[in-house]
Amino acid sequence: MFVSENLDVNAQGHLTAGGIDTVELAEKYGTPLYVMDEELIRKTLRRFHDSMNKYYNGMGEVHYASKAFSCMEMCRIVASEGDGLDAVSIGELYTAVKAGFPMEKVGFHGNNKSDEELAYALEVGVGHIIVDNIPELHRLERIAGEKGVKPQIMFRIKPGIEAHTHDKIMTGQIDSKFGFALETGEAFEAVKEAVACENVEFYGVHCHIGSQIFDIEPFEAAAKVMLGFIAKIKNELGYEVKGLNLGGGFGIKYLNDHDPAPFETYLERVSSVVKSECEKLGIAQPRMFIEPGRSIAAPAGITLYTVGARKEIPGIRTYVSIDGGMCDNPRYILYQSEYEAVVANKANEERNEKVTIAGRCCESGDLIGENMPLQHAESGDIIAVLATGAYNYSMSSNYNRLQKPAVVFINNGESRIAVKRESLDDIIKNDV
Ligand code: LLP
Repeated sequence: MFVSENLDVNAQGHLTAGGIDTVELAEKYGTPLYVMDEELIRKTLRRFHDSMNKYYNGMGEVHYASKAFSCMEMCRIVASEGDGLDAVSIGELYTAVKAGFPMEKVGFHGNNKSDEELAYALEVGVGHIIVDNIPELHRLERIAGEKGVKPQIMFRIKPGIEAHTHDKIMTGQIDSKFGFALETGEAFEAVKEAVACENVEFYGVHCHIGSQIFDIEPFEAAAKVMLGFIAKIKNELGYEVKGLNLGGGFGIKYLNDHDPAPFETYLERVSSVVKSECEKLGIAQPRMFIEPGRSIAAPAGITLYTVGARKEIPGIRTYVSIDGGMCDNPRYILYQSEYEAVVANKANEERNEKVTIAGRCCESGDLIGENMPLQHAESGDIIAVLATGAYNYSMSSNYNRLQKPAVVFINNGESRIAVKRESLDDIIKNDV
């Protein structure tokens, strides 16, 4: 009925998430409010790591991409499932450290890491550093030497495959700020340098071909290219690459007509490509890593808002204004991303209007969406925007000096605050 499997309608006609009445959540915690379903997060993590175990014989790791949604509680949940983490900044690392995350299961990313970040990553003992460029390799070699440690590194590679939701482009990927290019020989030269480094251990190669990808073919194609590269390193340098990280990017259902491939099928097919290519190329099967972010966090989240003004402009459109917007969900203004919305207190009624849901910022582009099918919404109604668990809270801002909403986790019919709503004093806390 709705895009995410944990949503339903109760006897009062209210939208429920994980069995909890969302109208009651809005009353209890206020709006705007992010609601995350712990049970669904755990279920999705298990779907990924169970499939990894089943199809890749347990020789793999799932690293949740915390850029999608990071807070200490999320790190605790991922840790308790035994999965790893992909972190891209000192802030994401710090969050994991403070949550007691086992840092040896963390991969540290970033296309422009600072010395401070590299040093911190070494101090807290991350499992891998995914190196993006030669100056970073040199800086890491120096900092690791100063600290007397020898971190394992992977190289971020541009495999020459760029995948969007529906198309696959084999060229042009050279024009990306991330990683080393294969086609130009840049990646191979860099590997030669890395294997000769004294203070780092060259462990593996990494690629990430895009986000919100529905098809499996681009992932299979990328895996083949990467294994070809691993074979070249073995044949020409006599060096065995131990790790292959295929990144994240698995698509999810934002609208009912979206049809992403199931994660199980993805892992089955990619594992089979990796195994058969290894055999063909005469190389050992590498340890496989994946970094799903959106697919774990997005379906588990909804955002609740209260409707303020309603403006019907005859012959043009109807605006339904909410108490949030681009500050808590910048994905429409940035990418024209589409979402499903429901009037939570009228969830059993037909969505027979098409409206523009407008945010409260002083910015005409501050919309959650246009032409959105919705029940008749009036002042005081609660609107739920669905599948907002990824890249909403993590991309939120304080534009217009708005306070960031609270994040509530729900599980087993209970709710709890995981991130408090910002106070007015939070807004001025760094002002001097
Ligand atoms: N690994 C690497 C190296 C990445 O760059 C990303 C996402 C991921 C994993 C996780 O990808 P996912 O499974 O979440 O698709 N803000 C955009 C998405 C940016 C994705 C950036 N990298 C959005 O809201 O759609």
